[in-house]
Amino acid sequence: MNILVTGGAGYIGSHTIIELLEEGHEVIVVDNLSNSSRESLVRIQNITQKNITFHELDLRDRDGLSTIFDTNDIDVVMHFAGLKAVGESVIKALHYYQNNLEASMTLLEVMKTFDVKKLVFSSSATVYGDPEALPLIESACKQATNPYGQTKLMIEQILEDICATQEDWSITSLRYFNPIGAHESGLIGEDPNGQPNNLVPYIAQVAVGKLDMVKVFGKDYDTPDGTGVRDYIHILDLAKAHATTLQHLDHPNVYKAYNIGTGKGISVLEMIAAFEKASGKIIPYEILDRRPGDIANCYADPSLARTELGWYSEYTIEQACRDAWRWQCDNPDGYHTPAATI
Ligand code: NAD
Ligand code: WQD
Repeated sequence: MNILVTGGAGYIGSHTIIELLEEGHEVIVVDNLSNSSRESLVRIQNITQKNITFHELDLRDRDGLSTIFDTNDIDVVMHFAGLKAVGESVIKALHYYQNNLEASMTLLEVMKTFDVKKLVFSSSATVYGDPEALPLIESACKQATNPYGQTKLMIEQILEDICATQEDWSITSLRYFNPIGAHESGLIGEDPNGQPNNLVPYIAQVAVGKLDMVKVFGKDYDTPDGTGVRDYIHILDLAKAHATTLQHLDHPNVYKAYNIGTGKGISVLEMIAAFEKASGKIIPYEILDRRPGDIANCYADPSLARTELGWYSEYTIEQACRDAWRWQCDNPDGYHTPAATI
């Protein structure tokens, strides 16, 4: 298949592209590089020895996007492009709505014009807000608590409405839980700008000596050790979920949403311990107050994806920590690390 991957230079898109290329698909990437680097695409080509067509383009550029659809025979779109930082979305709400919604709307309109009606969308567990019951099932109440989450909810609603009201669309949203880890080669991984917001990249930078100690946000939650519990999913399991979903886009007029998680909750302290084991380093930490907006507990019931897609997670938390550690050690400055040192 010819697959258009939006946001393909980013963390999740880049790992998914490897999986798609290895399954024999052709990949065309559209990315404005607002939160990523061309280097990730170069490294994908080194890993796979396959070519990718890359267009540096903002998805909101309707004419540019139309030209790409006009000159390529696209079968399916995987839509990763979007801004994703929860805290930043609170400060720059309009920017988040503008970028995420307009990019998605423009993409959908251009797809319609060119009669491309198969789409896989990157959604998030954030659409569930503070869970009323655990594990989370897809039909659980949705209540995003920040502008970023709202954009995911709104886009999901748009996608559902399109499938319900227009002919021949087949759309699947994958609600990722907490993606972590990196490709086993150590050549691609998560490359946050500045100080990481997310737990595992932060731990990795403490382990490698770039940061002093992990700040544990709260030890008074109603969880087994008092720290926040999340469902951390290896990026390679997540990549595989996309390739698997492709095989299930043959039912027109169907909108589906699936939880993509492991089903297992891991606490902050458990994650620090797992990373210590993987890295062989002592990871100092301090307990701070809760981070505003955080929830105590969040983990998936991933059984719908297993039953309907045949997908389930296979990597362990130890493997994810090992791969995140390899990426961190080999690329202390992410994609800015000179190639000679990797
Ligand atoms: P990322 O920032 O690494 O990748 C997103 C890519 O989209 C970047 O390369 C960025 O340059 C590009 N982009 C943003 N706006 C664009 C636009 N208007 N036009 C063209 N390109 C644009 O993020 P990621 O972690 O790979 O996330 C991919 C998707 O998965 C996002 O939609 C994100 O919201 C979603 N998601 C991520 C997580 C997570 O924890 N990483 C969890 C759940 C859902
Ligand atoms: C995990 C746990 C923190 C950092 C976010 C987004 C979500 C999704 C994934 C896109 C929590 C604790 C963290 C630190 C800590 N992204 N923590 N010290 O908040 O579950 O999810 O990323 O869709 O929308 O909200 O992930 O990695 O930030 O936090 O103690 O330095 O680690 O309190 O319990 P989160 P996270």
